[in-house]
Amino acid sequence: MISGLHHYALEVPDLAVAEGFLRDFGLETGDKDGTLIAQCPGRAQEQVRLVEAPAKRLHHVSFTVRPGTLDSVRETLDRAGTPVIEPPAGAPEHGLWIRDPDGTAVQLLDGEPAPARPADEVLVNVGGSRQRIGAAQWLHATGDVLPRRLGHTLLFTAQPQQMTDFYTQVLGLKVSDRIRGLVTFLNAGPGDHHIFGFIASTHRGFHHASFEVPSIDAIAIGADRMRAQGRDAGWGLGRHTIGSNFFHYNPDPWGSWIEWFSDIDQIDECWVARDWEVPPHLWGAPPPDTFLANSEPAD
Ligand SMILES: [Fe+2]
Repeated sequence: MISGLHHYALEVPDLAVAEGFLRDFGLETGDKDGTLIAQCPGRAQEQVRLVEAPAKRLHHVSFTVRPGTLDSVRETLDRAGTPVIEPPAGAPEHGLWIRDPDGTAVQLLDGEPAPARPADEVLVNVGGSRQRIGAAQWLHATGDVLPRRLGHTLLFTAQPQQMTDFYTQVLGLKVSDRIRGLVTFLNAGPGDHHIFGFIASTHRGFHHASFEVPSIDAIAIGADRMRAQGRDAGWGLGRHTIGSNFFHYNPDPWGSWIEWFSDIDQIDECWVARDWEVPPHLWGAPPPDTFLANSEPAD
């Protein structure tokens, strides 16, 4: 049913602060329906929506469903006893709106995601590959470094099993892998190892969103750009265990995180989910103590 992640939305206390942060991160910003939106350069799809409110809090999550399947989605929701709701204030009005077991508003949109900005092939001379002959990489590595698409978001939850059951049995996502007792990664079929997931916590909340950039250079250059703007250095550069992507995270102004990623595992229909007991990073410094802090007010 769910074919991809469309955008996520947060309530934040100051839209001007949010706009400055997201622009430093590499997104373009604008107004829509009286709210602040951000999107990836070269992609005609809103990826972040911000609504002004007293405290930072997850507002909603939006997914695409396979074109023409919204009626069957409605029937499945009906069978599962999940009522359709009115869109929350500040949210786009189209599509189908429901609440997940944590009470988070979820939008289901009929249609294909917009194509990501095209990226050049990155030729490498690593391992047994000799693809780049007669070209000086450093002259090209800084050419295209901005986010191309929103890849995934992870939410805090106090009930990971109930949330996983809902998103897999009712909305059609699949478990990709788990870090035992802590993180559940979900996929929408062949493609990125994960587009969504949960981190165990005392209560619901937004943990991070992650945007694909064209290369590992783009991640490091993004981190340099944030440092030059006086932003906190965050966590990275590293390579993750689950999903294998290169990563760098910056803390956002409200105690959650935003990530650039590159080189994430691509999975197929035959992928078998497993439980792992591993740290989140294969190499790189360990995460800061604040990485798993849930800064949102409990309901
Ligand atoms: Fe991530």
